[in-house]
Amino acid sequence: MDVTADIQTVRLLRGADPALSWGFVPTMGYLHAGHLALVERSKGENDCTAVSIYINPAQFGPQEDLANYPRDLQRDLELLRTAGVDLVFTPDDSVIYPADFQTKVIVEEVSRPLEGSARPGHFTGVATVVAKLFNIIQPTRAYFGQKDAQQTIVLRQMVRDLNFPVEMVICPTVREADGLALSSRNSYLTPEQRVAAPALYRALTIAQTAFQQGERRGDTLLTIMRDTVAAEPLARLGYVSAANPLTLAEWDHVDGDCLLSLTVFFGRTRLIDNLLLQG
Ligand code: PAJ
Repeated sequence: MDVTADIQTVRLLRGADPALSWGFVPTMGYLHAGHLALVERSKGENDCTAVSIYINPAQFGPQEDLANYPRDLQRDLELLRTAGVDLVFTPDDSVIYPADFQTKVIVEEVSRPLEGSARPGHFTGVATVVAKLFNIIQPTRAYFGQKDAQQTIVLRQMVRDLNFPVEMVICPTVREADGLALSSRNSYLTPEQRVAAPALYRALTIAQTAFQQGERRGDTLLTIMRDTVAAEPLARLGYVSAANPLTLAEWDHVDGDCLLSLTVFFGRTRLIDNLLLQG
């Protein structure tokens, strides 16, 4: 496995045999089974697999957890070596954002609601770094988790709008046995908060059951999710949403597929989750 922080080295390795297909899994490290599921999928569909580990400061707000974001590079590299990854790109800030850096990728409409409204500038940071990583790695296919549903929608839009020759592959959310979606941020939870954290998935699945039984009123689906979270004393609700997964417009009456999503605080830790319902 090659590990490098250097763009020229990536280009040499990537360009060595143009006939080979490359899968790419961008990450911010502190890897868990959700990340490794993306790696496995890429391994199955490509000749070679590259992973990036880079905590992108541009996607963190001034009040967010950038400084405390969990990291363990040695453990991550061991996991990736065991998984059979070919190339790991571990740039530092001076490689990605040199002193004279001045370009941003702004995806307008689908970046605005939900996470975009809770975290101003977040998706501009994500789109900019992923555009750069695509240009550096030049993958055939890129692998993202449904866990970050809006991120997949924003990046698909970017790929279409800017004609990146990359096939986007979205993989299912990997969960703990009790339904909690795996996330690097789960490590911030106290034991009591960890016990309470499946409230997100519970809210989603109760609303999903109502949907499967024919409920199509957006308000009712939101109320079900709000009430479920409210029943958990350690949880504080951020937003809930029942939206069209193509536009992220909120459904009044669901007429097609429906992306249920929510964010919940446990103390200062903010978790997100979602379920895509087929209409
Ligand atoms: P990060 O949070 O490290 O996630 C990297 C990838 O793993 C993302 O595509 C994310 O959706 C996926 N992922 C995380 N938890 C998952 C789970 N439980 N099941 C399945 N997939 C999961 O997302 C980012 O990093 C950054 O925004 C990045 C795209 C790297 C740009 O900086």
